[in-house]
Amino acid sequence: MDIHAQKLLILDFGSQFTQLIARRVRESKVYCEIHPYNTGEKSKGGLIKFIKEYNPKGIILSGGPSSVFDKGAPRVPKGVYGLGIPILAICYGMQLTAKLFQGKVERSKHREYGPADIIIKDSTGLFHGIKKDKIKVWMSHGDKVATAPKGYKVTAISANSVIAAVSNTEKGLYGVQFHPEVVHTAHGKHIIKNFTHRICKARSTWTMKSFIDTTVENIRAQVGPDGRVICGISGGVDSSVAAALVAKAIGKRLTCIFVDNGVLRKNEGDEVYKTLTKNFDVKIKKVDASDIFLKKLKGVADPERKRKIIGNTFIRIFEAEAALVKGAHFLAQGTLYPDVIESVSFKGPSATIKSHHNVGGLLKRMKLELVEPLRELFKDEVRVLGKELGLADELIDRHPFPGPGLAIRIIGSVSEERCEVLREADVIVIEEIRRAGWYDKIWQAFAVLLPVKTVGVMGDERTYENTLAVRMVNSVDGMTADWVRLPYEVLERISSRIINEVHGVNRVVYDISSKPPSTIEWE
Ligand code: XMP
Repeated sequence: MDIHAQKLLILDFGSQFTQLIARRVRESKVYCEIHPYNTGEKSKGGLIKFIKEYNPKGIILSGGPSSVFDKGAPRVPKGVYGLGIPILAICYGMQLTAKLFQGKVERSKHREYGPADIIIKDSTGLFHGIKKDKIKVWMSHGDKVATAPKGYKVTAISANSVIAAVSNTEKGLYGVQFHPEVVHTAHGKHIIKNFTHRICKARSTWTMKSFIDTTVENIRAQVGPDGRVICGISGGVDSSVAAALVAKAIGKRLTCIFVDNGVLRKNEGDEVYKTLTKNFDVKIKKVDASDIFLKKLKGVADPERKRKIIGNTFIRIFEAEAALVKGAHFLAQGTLYPDVIESVSFKGPSATIKSHHNVGGLLKRMKLELVEPLRELFKDEVRVLGKELGLADELIDRHPFPGPGLAIRIIGSVSEERCEVLREADVIVIEEIRRAGWYDKIWQAFAVLLPVKTVGVMGDERTYENTLAVRMVNSVDGMTADWVRLPYEVLERISSRIINEVHGVNRVVYDISSKPPSTIEWE
């Protein structure tokens, strides 16, 4: 079965929700890719030629921040609508459709943002099988469509009489002003599935089971019968799942390299080793380089310098270890789909990418060919895949952990002693939120060791020891975050255990800042 045969194409106009559209389509078990609206613009045949070659079962036009009244507003050629391929145009996509086909778009000074009720006028097409006349949807738009595009009829209106959905069923063309891809839209998944399955007639071929079969074959084909692959594993989900997939394809011809940089969590190396070797016939080289890293970090307080030192030292050590693996010509990496989209976005690469994420230099120098088995996947798909491959839940559902590790959670200079203090406190934080059933409800929870000593009293004695901050946040993608309202009892247990059990800490504080303006990490 070809998992890519039944695919949709999403043309992106820059909406913050575009990736959500792709995730919803894939949840309906149909593969899709996001491409900029102006794809093919510079080549002969343009977008139309690109679409014909891509051969999608359906097209989704995303929303976007522009107004059709803007000079140079983004648009697709009218011909896209005449290819006989069903189209779902969302928000800006629908306004553009109205503009292109003699509908009327009205400029609006006020953005309608948030929940709204819509009344369904026609319960076929996108609304097939929704038993209610009125549903809650998520709106986020400025301009609105005042008259439907020619040939379309209105299939839903919002409570304040804005056209909420239109369709031209004969041609398979649909438009919605609201955002079915956002979880706050009731029946959003259902609406997307009506489009993918009923309107586009795509079949459910995109499952992680079939993904594994296809990818294993692809890896074998790329690497050949004797090719050898190396893979750096960090203990994170992406590199572990990538390694597991490559191991499934080529077994012992994969060598994983795990570098202990001395700023890992307690038992981190052992745990990664255990979970990977339990399920896979894989070679793992553990390299204890903690002395080297800690020596280089000695006396360094500046966060960016810490990052650079850790990044560069890692590359050097990894290169040396990789060179010892005879005959390896391939490097496996856990690159995900959002990184791929980012690099082809018409807006250009995002400024938010951090310097340390960029280990590109590593590759150029080593002349290795990349194996990137997760390039097509979103993070949530990687998790499902990891489970399907038999990796332990604790590894799959782990909170994100930064590359520079505890070094950026020890404010001021890093030493083995301070690492030890933080490691012990970190374990307690995690143990206690797991015990209280909160671990899976939190994006990231950790401790930060501050360069602040305060006075305390223990028994009859005055103490003068370190202060430790506890940080817990919820987030969807790490870009924004809110501090977790953890029950006082859990906070109390964390605080009293740390003060009693961790030598060198006599005060615990809880961080109640959100991002922005604060960041998740303290450094
Ligand atoms: P900030 O602190 O920027 O963190 O709000 C957002 C997310 O990124 C992680 N983070 C890093 N990850 N290397 C990494 O691999 C880094 O240098 C780094 N700095 C922050 C952070 O843990 C959070 O998940």
